[in-house]
Amino acid sequence: MLAGPPRLVSAVTILLLVVFVWWYFSILQKTPSLIYDHSPPPKVSSGIPTTEKSPSPVNPLDFSTPLKFFPGTPKPPGSNYSRILVLPKTTDEDIAWIHSELPEVPLAVYEVDNATAEYHVPKNKGREAMVYLTYLIDHYDSLPDTVLFFHSHRYAWHNNVLMGLDTAQAIRRLNLARVVRLGYMNTRCHHDPGCPDWIHMDRPAIDFDFFRKPEEIYYRKSVWEELNPGAAIPPSLSQPCCAQFAVSRERVRQVPRERFIHYREWLLNTPMDDQFSGRIFEYIWQWIFTGNGVYCPAMNSCYCDGYGICFGGAAKFAEWFKTMDERNKLFEEFDGYNKEKQAAENEGRKFEFIPETKKRMKELEDKIHELDPALEKLRTEAYKRGEDPKNREAETETYDDTHIWDHVNQ
Ligand SMILES: *[C@@H]1O[C@H](CO)[C@@H](O)[C@H](O)[C@H]1NC(C)=O
Ligand SMILES: *[C@@H]1O[C@H](CO)[C@@H](O)[C@H](O)[C@H]1NC(C)=O
Repeated sequence: MLAGPPRLVSAVTILLLVVFVWWYFSILQKTPSLIYDHSPPPKVSSGIPTTEKSPSPVNPLDFSTPLKFFPGTPKPPGSNYSRILVLPKTTDEDIAWIHSELPEVPLAVYEVDNATAEYHVPKNKGREAMVYLTYLIDHYDSLPDTVLFFHSHRYAWHNNVLMGLDTAQAIRRLNLARVVRLGYMNTRCHHDPGCPDWIHMDRPAIDFDFFRKPEEIYYRKSVWEELNPGAAIPPSLSQPCCAQFAVSRERVRQVPRERFIHYREWLLNTPMDDQFSGRIFEYIWQWIFTGNGVYCPAMNSCYCDGYGICFGGAAKFAEWFKTMDERNKLFEEFDGYNKEKQAAENEGRKFEFIPETKKRMKELEDKIHELDPALEKLRTEAYKRGEDPKNREAETETYDDTHIWDHVNQ
């Protein structure tokens, strides 16, 4: 018996449905706003400020209450971010490379020794810190989405190895969505020097490292107190070295302008030698913009999310650099023999390698010729891997567990 008369229960169900629909529409008619009102919902305080202005302390120079910082919200993928490149130079420094390599990047070039230059500083003191602070003070109310603070030289030992130590490449590849999300990004990915355990304001005199941390002897509690009166002293001040970084407008404006003025006053008035007062700031920007004394993001995240160069995780990243170090050691040895020969020839001495050395040099050469293409291949693959947003996301820091399993390397 497949077919039969309609069952009673169905008739009742249909009746109920009709009644419900009638009731539903009668409600809607009485409250048309339910379907017609497309105005934005009323603003409800979620506890997380979504606007650019965070609640400032009553006294902007009250450092005893830590500023609260929150991650920013990047625009939808594919959006553009406005930016400006802020850099210091002296009148006789040449920055033609910027005009040829980065013609599309808006510039604020401060001529530190030219009082009539378009961008100038109150005094040529405190190195790049004076320039960065002056830019922030003078443009606090008219900042682009992101501000990039760099030095004026194109190549530097402290730039990123995987981008050939080239600032032009770093700026072209820099992921501004990361800058906006984190608020502050040190553009150097490598931890050494500066991370994770660098300046200690209480280090005993006998333990100073005058070669690697010449500023530490000046970076005492008294200086911290002058700069951030009342703020708790962090256990250490640590971030990748050398004072090149990017900040979002949102983040800058979470720091009261008065503080930048206060810091600049300190720089103008301190009797400390320039080379040290400038370096005092090298290890304080992360505290100013994140509230953390120690700010050392994972190197592979910095490269992958920051520049689209992804090795596929911290272990593979470390492996590449380990091989690179081995290769460089071999090269150093090889180069040492050649220098010996060169030195002898410069003195006019006749020089011949002994057979054992010749044999060793051949060995070194072969090994280097084997490692170089292997390293280059992995590097090229890392660039390629970085083109896929999924791969970049997989190596990005996460503070949120809702998608924690999405990219786990099974
Ligand atoms: C972003 O900028 C590029 C280059 O100026 C332009 O071609 C592109 O259309 C822009 N994209 C959006 C979403 O505005
Ligand atoms: C200082 O800047 C002004 C304005 O750009 C420029 O005309 C002048 O040549 C600069 N002085 C020097 C010494 O370069």
